[in-house]
Amino acid sequence: MSISRGRLDRFISEKCQINRKSVRLLLAQKRVSVDGVIALDIAQAINKFSLIKFDGQIIQENRALYIMLHKPVGVVCATKDDKHKTVIDLLCLKLTPTEKASLHIVGRLDLNTSGLVLLTNDSRWSEQLISPISKVDKHYLVTLKNPLHHDYINAFANGMYFAYENIITKPVKLNIISQYCAEVVLTEGRYHQIKRMFGRFNNPVMALHRTSIGSYILNENLLVGESKFININKK
Ligand code: URA
Repeated sequence: MSISRGRLDRFISEKCQINRKSVRLLLAQKRVSVDGVIALDIAQAINKFSLIKFDGQIIQENRALYIMLHKPVGVVCATKDDKHKTVIDLLCLKLTPTEKASLHIVGRLDLNTSGLVLLTNDSRWSEQLISPISKVDKHYLVTLKNPLHHDYINAFANGMYFAYENIITKPVKLNIISQYCAEVVLTEGRYHQIKRMFGRFNNPVMALHRTSIGSYILNENLLVGESKFININKK
């Protein structure tokens, strides 16, 4: 058992099957520590990454995991799939089965899109990265079947109506790099958004590659299929 956020007394009471009055006594006897510090306050806030010890024995210990993966084309952004290899199958990092099972994907990519995928077990971090409110930029390199046209720039910036969702897309930045290549910057992630936007011009996307999510940039030394732990305090 671990919790995402809560009070220390509630956690100990549930974990050790004792009433809250007894928890108060344990704390007064200085038998509980949180992150190496003796806990005295029954209402102390804890989260699923707090290291909690009772009489020196660990009763909760979870590592916060932050992973960068260079996703290849043909691998699915899911935790399980019957047909395709998943991003989880690709991970070649030291993770326990429980840690592996705790991971979720921060902003999925389509099967035939490559590039940066972030994985974590810290939903506070991932929510802040994918929430439309935080307007985090996601950069993509796109290769198209037909030549690009400057008209696209305004159409992307003005937003497009997506009937299925009944929404107008948020402004999208389009930087034309060459006749068939462009950089696209999204602040949201609608289903097949980039393909659908170029689809309005009957211009199929031939290749799509994500290079960054906010300040997390796909490490150029990370080969296709490789993954590494990242330190979110020091990028
Ligand atoms: N837009 C798409 O069409 N596909 C992706 O994988 C990401 C953005």
